[in-house]
Amino acid sequence: MDLANGEHVNKLLQAQAHVWNHTFSFINSMSLKCAIQLCIPDVIHNHGKPITLDELVAALQINPTKVPGLHRLMRILIHSGFFAREKFNEDDQEEGYTLTPASRLLLKDHPLSMAPFPLALLDPIFTKPWDHLSNWFLNDDPTPFYTAHGREVWDYASHEPKLNHFFNEAMASDARLVSGVLMHKCKGVFKGLESLVDVGGGTGTMAKAIAMAFPNIDCTVFDLPHVVADLKSGENLKYVGGDMFEKVPPADAVMLKWILHDWNDELCVEILKKCKDAIKGKAGGKVIIIDMITESKVGDKKSIETQLFFDMEMTAIVRGRERNEKEWAKLFLDAGFRDYKITPILGLRSLIEIYPPKGFP
Ligand SMILES: C[S@@+](CC[C@H](N)C(=O)[O-])C[C@H]1O[C@@H](n2cnc3c(N)ncnc32)[C@H](O)[C@@H]1O
Repeated sequence: MDLANGEHVNKLLQAQAHVWNHTFSFINSMSLKCAIQLCIPDVIHNHGKPITLDELVAALQINPTKVPGLHRLMRILIHSGFFAREKFNEDDQEEGYTLTPASRLLLKDHPLSMAPFPLALLDPIFTKPWDHLSNWFLNDDPTPFYTAHGREVWDYASHEPKLNHFFNEAMASDARLVSGVLMHKCKGVFKGLESLVDVGGGTGTMAKAIAMAFPNIDCTVFDLPHVVADLKSGENLKYVGGDMFEKVPPADAVMLKWILHDWNDELCVEILKKCKDAIKGKAGGKVIIIDMITESKVGDKKSIETQLFFDMEMTAIVRGRERNEKEWAKLFLDAGFRDYKITPILGLRSLIEIYPPKGFP
């Protein structure tokens, strides 16, 4: 290697820095997890004004020998956009830590708090499969999660109440945000419906929001028995346990939020066919999908990277993947649907409505 050439040396050092950066990328995730576990966003919020390091140390009851570590944790989280530093007033030299829009979403009491999501997805149950990714490429296991834990995630959740609980909480936190946006931006999608089944609807956050906004729609939350056991039905909302690969309860519309990205193409077509059976004989019947469409025009570098993260997460945990529009269209066609409409109103995800063929019985 020619180390005498200056340009070459610079490229070499840049390459080394790139490798370092990716070696330690997990530190962003783990620092964030630590901040949520310590309730740092809540402490800053409850303080009501910028908080100094000393005040933060006192509120968190940090071991005095670890104070420099807290300063450094806050510094990296400022760098990654979760906290900021602000002066107390114009003339003041002293600064304190404040929240950013991202850390406001991590407040435990925020109505749209998404704190359960990073806490669940960064639990060792979900990070362990990453240690097995390379083994999985060489073995016959269905998922790296299986290689790590000896069973698939839904089976694991049915036997492990802790996983079942924190996973359902993570999904519910997402559903709170998405249902809010949906009701605000795209309520019309539910107009005219008399019944709706949310397949894989978890503990029912999305269906509850629809049932409340549309008292005339009979909503059903359909999920695996261990997910819906003990959940109380309401006025126009009921819980049904079952397996979507066997039968989906009939309704005017079927919702599939974050379901199809959990499965490979063959299994998605099976699910979609069961959904088509469920809307059989319903005038205006449709399937409403909430999922990502990759490679769409709106992608800045960070959004593309986030979609690629999700795609790999679906590889590591479940038998799924993220899809581009062409791949989605093929699934719809293979399952016997006629047409689809994409409404890109959910940030990195879209609302996709799919319709059965004309004259469908
Ligand atoms: C990624 S979560 C999505 C939850 C919810 N739709 C949301 O986005 O908030 C996938 C859901 O599918 C459910 N599920 C998995 N296999 C299923 C099956 N065979 N039949 C019904 N539901 C299933 C899981 O229990 C889980 O609640």
